[in-house]
Amino acid sequence: MTTELGRRIARRIALTGPISLADFMAEALGHPTLGYYRRAHARAGGPLGAGGDFTTAPEISQMFGELIGAWLADRWLAMGSPAPVRLVELGPGRGTLMADALRATRGVPGFHAALDLHLVETSETLRAQQAEALAAFTPQWHERFDAVPAGPLLLVANEFFDALPVRQFHRTDSGWRERMVGLAADGETLTLALAPGATPFAPFLPAAAATDAEAELCEAGRAIAAAIGARLRRDGGWALIVDYGYDASGPAASLQAVRGHRRADLLERPGETDLSSHVDFAALAAAAGARSFGPVGQGAFLARLGIRQRAETLKARASEAQRHALDAGLHRLIDPGQMGTLFRVMAVGDDRSAAPPGFSEAT
Ligand SMILES: C[S@@+](CC[C@H](N)C(=O)[O-])C[C@H]1O[C@@H](n2cnc3c(N)ncnc32)[C@H](O)[C@@H]1O
Repeated sequence: MTTELGRRIARRIALTGPISLADFMAEALGHPTLGYYRRAHARAGGPLGAGGDFTTAPEISQMFGELIGAWLADRWLAMGSPAPVRLVELGPGRGTLMADALRATRGVPGFHAALDLHLVETSETLRAQQAEALAAFTPQWHERFDAVPAGPLLLVANEFFDALPVRQFHRTDSGWRERMVGLAADGETLTLALAPGATPFAPFLPAAAATDAEAELCEAGRAIAAAIGARLRRDGGWALIVDYGYDASGPAASLQAVRGHRRADLLERPGETDLSSHVDFAALAAAAGARSFGPVGQGAFLARLGIRQRAETLKARASEAQRHALDAGLHRLIDPGQMGTLFRVMAVGDDRSAAPPGFSEAT
């Protein structure tokens, strides 16, 4: 049984032919009323957390947002403490990361007075949760990064780029072919098939790939990274991108579907299923065209920023149950078997300020 959105996509394909996986993903996540991140969420609490489909680092432990807050404040000082500074989060979820970051930086003289908070978010349900979490900071919301006013920038994006549409390609004996979404013989069920002809994207894919290799391209991610890079070069500032992904561009098919914390079929229930792919950090850095650091593993990054010491400080005034929760959160965020190496952190910044903490043993 598909969804109303699935039926609409099937109708569109019946009328106009197969669509790219990127077009399918854009509809499944971003359709104005039925898309996963757009519709008033069936689950009252929204897509995140135990009752939703997935859990993210800021929802696991307050320490994640606190340390990112310290990193952002360090960058602001390195930039020469500009005022105002546009503090931007892409895809802020419930607003938890930003609330923790702002609480942790209250004591930095002049920082909060200089901040002008901008949130790039398409989901109305999540905007309402962000408004509640961040009411004291009078945020402004935007559909797109381009709408954020000019000026020095501090930007953070956790698990944002993985939600952007990707194209997928398969290497056949006669070259790369794009994987498309078409219709099965019943004329209703969505199904995957390779396009019969050559793809115009071949110049962007590895030329020497072996037969049966896979590759993905995220045009939307590259475009946003290019816009961020242009802003950093012009107005100064820093961006911190955290996501799961690869170190270097390489052939792979990572697009996955998750519903209710379980792997699901990519095409089965569009609008009710989260779709995401691994982020190609090398492609983002190249598109940004600015000074970049990393990616490094999330575990190493947080350890260098002092997450173990932070845990000890919090535990010193915590109850037994809270101490257990802090230890469990620390483990999930930094352990290599959990989020420590799969999740990666990259910084992009201007060339006027000192190098950022977290990316080498020296910092
Ligand atoms: C996986 S959630 C991560 C939420 C949050 N950063 C966290 O770590 O908990 C993705 C976030 O990006 C937002 N989002 C997804 N696609 C978007 C788009 N194209 N433009 C703006 N926001 C988008 C979602 O609504 C959500 O807030």
